Amino acid sequence: MSITQRKKDHVSLTVSGQSAYHKTTGFERYDFMHHALPEVNIDDIDVSARFLNHHFSFPLFISSMTGGYSEAGAVNAVIARFCEAHNLPFGVGSQRIMLEKPETRESFEIVRKEAPTAFIAANIGGAQLIDGLSDDHISDLIDSIRADAIIVHLNPLQELMQAEGDRNFQGIREGIRSLEQKTELPIIVKETGAGISSVVAEMLIECGVDAIDVAGAGGTSWAKVENLRNNPKSDNPFDDWGLPTVDCLLQLRNIDLQDIQIISSGGIRSSFDIAKSICLGAQIAATAQPVIQAIIEDGYEGLENLYTKWRSDFKILLCLLGCERTGDLDFRHLRTV
Ligand SMILES: Cc1cc2nc3c(=O)[nH]c(=O)nc-3n(C[C@H](O)[C@H](O)[C@H](O)COP(=O)(O)O)c2cc1C
Repeated sequence: MSITQRKKDHVSLTVSGQSAYHKTTGFERYDFMHHALPEVNIDDIDVSARFLNHHFSFPLFISSMTGGYSEAGAVNAVIARFCEAHNLPFGVGSQRIMLEKPETRESFEIVRKEAPTAFIAANIGGAQLIDGLSDDHISDLIDSIRADAIIVHLNPLQELMQAEGDRNFQGIREGIRSLEQKTELPIIVKETGAGISSVVAEMLIECGVDAIDVAGAGGTSWAKVENLRNNPKSDNPFDDWGLPTVDCLLQLRNIDLQDIQIISSGGIRSSFDIAKSICLGAQIAATAQPVIQAIIEDGYEGLENLYTKWRSDFKILLCLLGCERTGDLDFRHLRTV
């Protein structure tokens, strides 16, 4: 199976609606503390967000998805154009393919052509950092898209479910430490849907990372995606493996985060999930599956419709909590149900 075919399968299976977790994110365990006397003019509400010393118009990061073949380049171009127009940060999909097949570089380079000023994160797998990335490869990741940050994705569950996946995970921590020392850019480490615990977060902080994207369970199950590719008829006990997104956020509240920042992702499906994420300690939320689905179904307009709805609901939500800005959200705005 070629890498290109695998990437195409990933898009079609995540869009098909068959690859969601059975278990939930945990956001349903919380409701908001309605404020009947808000003292706020909704027209003055500021829904912007700060993350890694950048100012964005909304607390939403478009998660890393694709790249490496022509249709992926077209999806990346839509995301890039959209994020440039709306001042939102985004990540490209894994650039491993570009390091192995330089002819695929264009499907990544397109993002900087479409988004000359947007915040764009490069992306590489933790397993590719074992033994260290060469200086040339690090420069390639960054220069191809003039990256503002580098995302390292951790996905042992997905790799172990993938017939052709990586099997060795020894040395990734040292690889992250070495990458951090070789570049001035912020390093963000993310899971891909199985979540980051407090123990792993402490290890990452010790490696010197700048931000952690918890990418917890409750949204896209990458075990399920791979198992559907291998054998669509059989159930696999690992399909539902992972720490729900809310449990990751709660675990991270109990450790000394020093000055690292938190992205909440994995099953972010509404403005309510974004607001709850911030109440639970994240600076920004991120989403993948709804974005790829909107683009595959309706292109740029599909993404625009999704964003317009989330942004307008978020404004109403802030008003009903008596908040004038995103940064006013905190744990007191939630109640358990
Ligand atoms: C089509 C598709 C491709 C993805 N490829 C990557 C990737 O290359 N690198 C990565 O870090 N995450 C990748 N992801 C994982 C997402 O960034 C995200 O962590 C995960 O899907 C959970 O978020 P969700 O529930 O909003 O989909 C991909 C997701 C999708 C839907």
